[in-house]
Amino acid sequence: MTNPNAKPYVYMTRQVAAEIVSSLEQVADVEVWGEDTPVPREVLLEKAEMADALFTMLTDRIDEELLSRAGRLQIVANMAVGYDNIDVRAAKERGIVVTNTPDVLTEATADLAFALLMATARRLVEANRFLHAGEWKSWSPYLLAGQSVYGAKLGIIGMGRIGEAVAKRAKGFDMSILYHNRRRKLEAELATGARYCELDELLQESDYVLLLTPLTPETHELMGEREFGLMKPSAVFINVSRGGTVNEAALYNALAEKQIWAAGLDVFQQEPVPTDHPLLTLPNVVALPHIGSATYQARTQMARLAAENIAAVLTGREPITPV
Ligand code: GLV
Ligand code: GLV
Repeated sequence: MTNPNAKPYVYMTRQVAAEIVSSLEQVADVEVWGEDTPVPREVLLEKAEMADALFTMLTDRIDEELLSRAGRLQIVANMAVGYDNIDVRAAKERGIVVTNTPDVLTEATADLAFALLMATARRLVEANRFLHAGEWKSWSPYLLAGQSVYGAKLGIIGMGRIGEAVAKRAKGFDMSILYHNRRRKLEAELATGARYCELDELLQESDYVLLLTPLTPETHELMGEREFGLMKPSAVFINVSRGGTVNEAALYNALAEKQIWAAGLDVFQQEPVPTDHPLLTLPNVVALPHIGSATYQARTQMARLAAENIAAVLTGREPITPV
């Protein structure tokens, strides 16, 4: 028999700011996975059986198996805007609410996307390695020359909140902006001068192709051999979405055969990416460990929003940001 006066039980799969845990303790008994590595699958399955709420990361797989074992789960609050780690349909079938953390990470992620674009275009990482390796012997006209960003053409695939925020930054660099999206975004067009076009046209025309779509069955390996083949030899590919949107073997070939000029990647099919991954052997790849939203401010706001969603559902209110 469960004690009707017992507080609900919340399981958090990572540590976040203490004030966020305390805020949840007002309405629930909270347990936190203490290690700075993902919670092992067996532990998560066991906790899910008893939990009223799960506070999850994009590294936690919330699938049919887990949901079918959950006894009293009311909400899965993912501390991410993406939720491809969650079987949302299976959750909905069981009346379990799923929430994400949109908006609060938009500007931080747009900053990172633009930083990665610039770092890739101007070979910052390669130049830094070059200097540290003692290879800087003299100034020379084309030493570490890159591609211009100012005034170039940017193609954004997936014009959501983050895409619009990147477009605003690009406007400051006098870039012309193309975008492709499931539907047209007239507001973004008005605000940034972005022009809607078909994917193939975007790939053919853009100096920078920036991928920002969520990972869904439709966008799985959206970028493959054919798509990279349409890009210009001087073009730069940037992925800040999910690794699953790109066929990595096709990207490797396009870079190695100089069909495209460079790539900046914040996400990979397998994360953490193995250090012997072929893409990491190429000098024209700037690789980051999935840090799109990693500012102190954004991460704390994401954790707070996830906690607020849990508190809302556990006290009988509507979730703030259901997916
Ligand atoms: C990060 O990738 C997120 O989805 O929030
Ligand atoms: C480069 O540093 C220049 O002065 O052109």
